[in-house]
Amino acid sequence: VPTGTAQIGVTGLAVMGSNIARNFASHGYTVALHNRSIAKTDALLEKHGDDGDFVRTETVEEFVGALERPRRVLIMVQAGAATDAVINELADAMEAGDIIIDGGNALYTDTIRREAAMAERGLLFIGAGISGGEEGALNGPSIMPGGPAKSYESVGPLLEAVAAQVDGEPCCTHIGPDGSGHFVKMVHNGIEYADMQLIGEAYDLMRRALDLPVAEIADVFREWNSTELESYLIEITAEVLSQVDAETGKPLVDVIVDEAGQKGTGRWTVKAALDLGIPTTGIAEAVFARALSSSTSQRTAAQGLASGTLSAAPADKKAFVDDIKAALYASKVVAYAQGFDEISAGSAEYGWNVDRGSLATIWRGGCIIRAQFLNRIREAYATDPELPSLLLAPYFREAVENGVDAWRRVVATATTMGVPVPAFASSLSYYDALRSERLPAALTQGLRDFFGAHTYKRVDKPGTFHTLWSEDR
Ligand code: NAP
Ligand code: ATR
Repeated sequence: VPTGTAQIGVTGLAVMGSNIARNFASHGYTVALHNRSIAKTDALLEKHGDDGDFVRTETVEEFVGALERPRRVLIMVQAGAATDAVINELADAMEAGDIIIDGGNALYTDTIRREAAMAERGLLFIGAGISGGEEGALNGPSIMPGGPAKSYESVGPLLEAVAAQVDGEPCCTHIGPDGSGHFVKMVHNGIEYADMQLIGEAYDLMRRALDLPVAEIADVFREWNSTELESYLIEITAEVLSQVDAETGKPLVDVIVDEAGQKGTGRWTVKAALDLGIPTTGIAEAVFARALSSSTSQRTAAQGLASGTLSAAPADKKAFVDDIKAALYASKVVAYAQGFDEISAGSAEYGWNVDRGSLATIWRGGCIIRAQFLNRIREAYATDPELPSLLLAPYFREAVENGVDAWRRVVATATTMGVPVPAFASSLSYYDALRSERLPAALTQGLRDFFGAHTYKRVDKPGTFHTLWSEDR
């Protein structure tokens, strides 16, 4: 094994790791390869060994020895215990000033802990969110590295070289210290959940309220993809809906079991939002909708529950499709506004100083939520870095205000026709609550003071007040 020659090492050569290793090699870097079981390393070399300059290593010591200093290692193994095991093994073999990058889907609090532990040993630790699945890993993902600024000087150029590029800019930037990269990747996935739920509700309305054939719904999404809704998820929705099952001749979507799985990043996003006190209602509805879809026994038992009297379908189908589009767009703005609020709150809580505009920039390519839309978000934060809510950026404000009548018609029609639209409806409620001058929280405060003497503030003078609610209290 040649020593000290490789610019980067990749350990964990499953789908993501092997593709990103090939990506580094195709950009001219010498890449040291390592995997717990040698079979994966050899499989990669057998298939793609001639595509670049790879160094085959078997042991961790060989792997670390193959790297030039300061050593740069990217870990692409399962999140959790496996990642801890690999970090500790590497740390034992590495020296002060070397850099470990965890590219797995780690929980940000684990990254905070690991960064602190590595810093104590003189090692620089980066938690990098990497989005874009296997295709992105090979051809250019969106990369969200968080860690010591000093480490980014050394690894930034490599990561930026292999990242997706949009308008000549890499979809990779230093996010901030320790867990910031994994935190924003987590919220990215949460937004992805909301995006997919909103698309699902739009589809369901066309199906159940308008009775449109699946192929026609595919065409609607295809058409939407050439408008302000242009995005990877809308594009592949058209593809998925166009797919016909070879065995039955039915639309494939009709033979797929309607129970959505989840690996947990959406749930993490909502848990963190609860802790930070940020209402990410769009993401939460999306997570709960997946959970409900998978509550099979309850769903089976509930078949036949009365619907009550349902209203008829809208007479003008074309007009209602346009309404659905407006509702989708407005709800999407809400979901992103909430996601960015969570990022602001996380950044403030942990002192990360995350720049929301540059996040929008690096999400324009490589990742699952890549969309035209992100250019508008980038512009919004460029104009006003302190923007209190995306809903208040002039562009989004105008778009949502123009669509709000349609949004109300969609939620009202869905409700009277018995079609569930949890994310559309809760996003509209969020919008209405946010713009309300007075909220019933005043009553909540009254109740809290009544039963628990929790006190309240008054609108007309400063101070804290408690009412003696009745003579005998
Ligand atoms: P994976 O199935 O999550 O992980 C498999 C890899 O982990 C294998 O190389 C395996 O080695 C190694 N591994 C597992 N336990 C280990 C242990 N105790 N010690 C050492 N190595 C261990 O693979 P993946 O889908 O390529 O994902 C890698 C990481 O990227 C994950 O954290 C994932 O969440 C993240 N990610 C995935 C995607 C995606 O679309 N799949 C996208 C972004 C990020 P052996 O070969 O020896 O078993
Ligand atoms: P990316 O950053 O590219 O979005 P990811 O975070 O690993 O990659 O996951 C991409 C999407 O594919 C996520 O929505 C994830 O959804 P869940 O959290 O609901 O599972 C899904 N996904 C990724 N790997 C998966 C796997 N092995 N099985 C099922 N779904 C997977």
